[in-house]
Amino acid sequence: MSDQDLNVTEAQIAVHWQEENKFQPAASFIAQANMTDPNIYKRFSLDNFPECFKEYADLLDWEQYWHTTLDTSDAPSWKWFVGGKINASYNCVDRHLEEHRNKAAIIWVPEPEDEPHVVITYQELYVRVNEFAAVLRDSCGLKAGDRVTIHMPMVPELPITMLALARLGVIHSVVFGGFSGKACGERIADSGSKVLITMDGYNRNGTMLDHRRKADEAVETAKAEGQDVEKVLIWRRMRGEYVSEKKMVKGRDYFVDELLQKQKGVRVEPVAMNAEDPLFLMYTSGTTGKPKGCQHSTGGYLAYAAGTSKFVQDIHPEDVYWCMADIGWITGHSYIVYGPLALAATSVMYEGVPGFPDAGRPWRIAEQLNVNIFHTAPTTVRMLRKAGPAEPAKYNFKFKHMTTVGEPIEPEVWRWYYHEVGKGEAAIVDTWWQTETGGFLCSTMPALHAMKPGSAGPAMPGIHPVIYDEDGNPVPPGGTAGNICIQNPWPGAFQTIWGDQDRFVRTYYEKYNKDPESKDWRDWPYFTGDAAVLATDGYYRILGRVDDVINVAGHRLGTKELESACLLVDAVAEAAVVPVADEIKGRVPDIYVALKPGKRGGKRVQDGVVESIETTIGKIARPNNVWIVPDMPKTRSGKIMRRVLASISNGRDVGDVTTLANPDVVEEIRVMVQGEGHGEEAIG
Ligand code: WT7
Repeated sequence: MSDQDLNVTEAQIAVHWQEENKFQPAASFIAQANMTDPNIYKRFSLDNFPECFKEYADLLDWEQYWHTTLDTSDAPSWKWFVGGKINASYNCVDRHLEEHRNKAAIIWVPEPEDEPHVVITYQELYVRVNEFAAVLRDSCGLKAGDRVTIHMPMVPELPITMLALARLGVIHSVVFGGFSGKACGERIADSGSKVLITMDGYNRNGTMLDHRRKADEAVETAKAEGQDVEKVLIWRRMRGEYVSEKKMVKGRDYFVDELLQKQKGVRVEPVAMNAEDPLFLMYTSGTTGKPKGCQHSTGGYLAYAAGTSKFVQDIHPEDVYWCMADIGWITGHSYIVYGPLALAATSVMYEGVPGFPDAGRPWRIAEQLNVNIFHTAPTTVRMLRKAGPAEPAKYNFKFKHMTTVGEPIEPEVWRWYYHEVGKGEAAIVDTWWQTETGGFLCSTMPALHAMKPGSAGPAMPGIHPVIYDEDGNPVPPGGTAGNICIQNPWPGAFQTIWGDQDRFVRTYYEKYNKDPESKDWRDWPYFTGDAAVLATDGYYRILGRVDDVINVAGHRLGTKELESACLLVDAVAEAAVVPVADEIKGRVPDIYVALKPGKRGGKRVQDGVVESIETTIGKIARPNNVWIVPDMPKTRSGKIMRRVLASISNGRDVGDVTTLANPDVVEEIRVMVQGEGHGEEAIG
C-alpha cells in the first residue's frame, strides 16, 4: 500500500464508479419548457449575487415590496428580502382565484381503489382554508408566531391545515404521520406547541389505522417534557364517523367538522408577515442528539420553492403534477404544497402505499388523472421495479418529466425509470438537496442539460458549491471526493435550528468558517455533510453522507457504489452495504441483498455479488459476507436502515426499531446473521 493510500482524508472516497453515458432531453420537452435560456447561469453568477434572486422573489405577490435583498448582519442566519411583507397562504390560494378559480388545486386519491377521488378547486381551497383559519383563530386563540404541531396522514385536510395556519402567521410543524406518538410528543415539546392537529384514522396497505391513539401518547410525552397541550383538533377520515377506539378527552379534544359548523362562510384576512418571519419548522435527524427543528422563512423559502418548481419541475398551470412523497417530509412541503400551489398547478396527493394493492397502482393513477409530471424517491423506484418491472408498459400514461430525490440512484435503476416509466421520452431530474436547504441545490435544468444516470448534475442557478478537502483546500473538477459545501447563502436556506442557534452554527458553518465574527457571507461556507465528486463536465455525483463512508484499509468506499455493483447481478433487487470492524483492514463491507420476486438465492447469487464487486471496484472491496434477506429494514419513508444492519453485522444490539415500517424483519435477519440467542447476550 502506498503512503498516499494511508493518507486519505476523512471525506475522501475511492471512486470507482465508471462514467455513464448521457441522455438528451426530448425535443418535445424542450419545446414547451419553462427554462430554455442558458444565460440564466450568467444572470445567477456570483458577480450578480445576491440581487439575482429578485427573479425568484418576483414570482410572488408581495403585500409590501422588500428593500434589501440580503442582510448578513446576523451571520450565518441570513435574512432575505428584508422590508418585504407577504403571506404564503395568499400566494398559494387567493391570488389564483381570478384566473384559476375553477381549476383543480388538489386531486386526492384515497388508498381504497373503489373510493372516489376528491377534487378541490382553487375556489374550494380558498373557502376551506378560510373557514379553518377562523376555527384556529376563534376556537384556539392562535396568533402569528405561535407554533402548532400537525400529525396527519396524506389527506387534503393536511395542506388545508398548513395553509390555514400560514394565513394567520402561525408556524406549523408537520410531523410525519408514520412517526410514533412519542416522536410526535418530543417535537411538540421542542417547538412549544399548545395545539396538536391530528386525524382519527387513515388507510395504509389495505387497513384503516387508528391514528388518533398516537395523540394521547404524544400529549403525555410532551407533558413529561414540560409542554402542556391545551387542545387537540381531530379531523375525521370518514364523514360523520369516528374510526378510532380512543375516547375523546373532554375540554381538550374537538372534532374539526363540528368546530367548522360555526364558521360557514367566514373569511379571514391573510396576515402580512415579514419576509424573514418563520413559516414552518421541519424536524430532521442528525448523527447524534435530538431531532433538529429546521426553521424556514416565509418570503425566502416560498420564493425558492416557487422558482425551483417552475424551472426544474417545469410546472405550468395546465400540468397535472404528482409528487408521490409524504408531506411529512420537506419534499412534500416544497414540492407537493408550497411550490406547485404557488404556481397554480394541480397537485395530486395519494393516501396510501405505492404498491397497494399491486405494483401497477401508481401507473393506473397516472393514466386516470393524466398526470404528466411525476416525482418520487429511488427507494420507491427500486420497490416498483422489483415488484412489477413490466407494469408501467401496461398503462396508457405519458410523463413529460420525472424527478428522483433523496438519495443517490443506481444507474441500473435510473435506466429502468427512464426506459420503462418514462417510456424513453420523459426528462429526468435527479435533485440533490436537504431538509435544511428548502429546495434543490444540484440538478440538471431539464431542457438545458443532458441527463447522466447517478449524477445530480450541475448546481442550481445561484448555488455555488465547492468541494473541500479536510484542510479546506478546494478540490478541482475531476479530482477526488470531498466535503461538498455551498459558498453562498440562498433564499431557501433554513434560518436556524429552533431554540439552538449554537448547534446550528456548530453543525453547518463551523467547519470551514474563516472568522466567527465575520458578517461577510464569503467567510461562511455551508457544510452539507455530504461527500461528493465533481466531474470535468461540471456534474456533481453525491456519494452520500460523510458518515455513510466505509473505510477499508485506508480506502474510502462509498456504500452507494458498492450497492450499485450488487445491483448488476440480475437476481438482485436491493442492496445495502455496512461496515464490519476488522482487525487488519479496519473495516470490511458486509452485504445485504433482497431479490426480485421469483428469483432464487443461494451460492450462485452470493458469488455473483462478490464477483461483481471485485470486477467493478476491486478486491479491496471484497465483502465479508453476502446475506440474502427477505426484505430490508426500512423507515416509514422507505430509507434502508443501514445502521440497524450494521449493528447486526457487528454483533451489537439493534436498539429501538419500533418506528420502522417492518420491525419484524429485523429479528429475522438478526437470527440469520447472529444465530438464535445471540441477541440476548449482546443486549445484556
Ligand atoms: C440527504 C438529505 C432532499 C429532500 C429529501 C431528503 C441525500 C438527497 C439526493 C440526491 C444523492 C441525495 C443527501 C442529503 N440526498 N437527495 N438526489 N442524490 N443524495 O431530505 O432527509 O434532509 O436528507 O439525502 O445525503 O444530505 P433529508
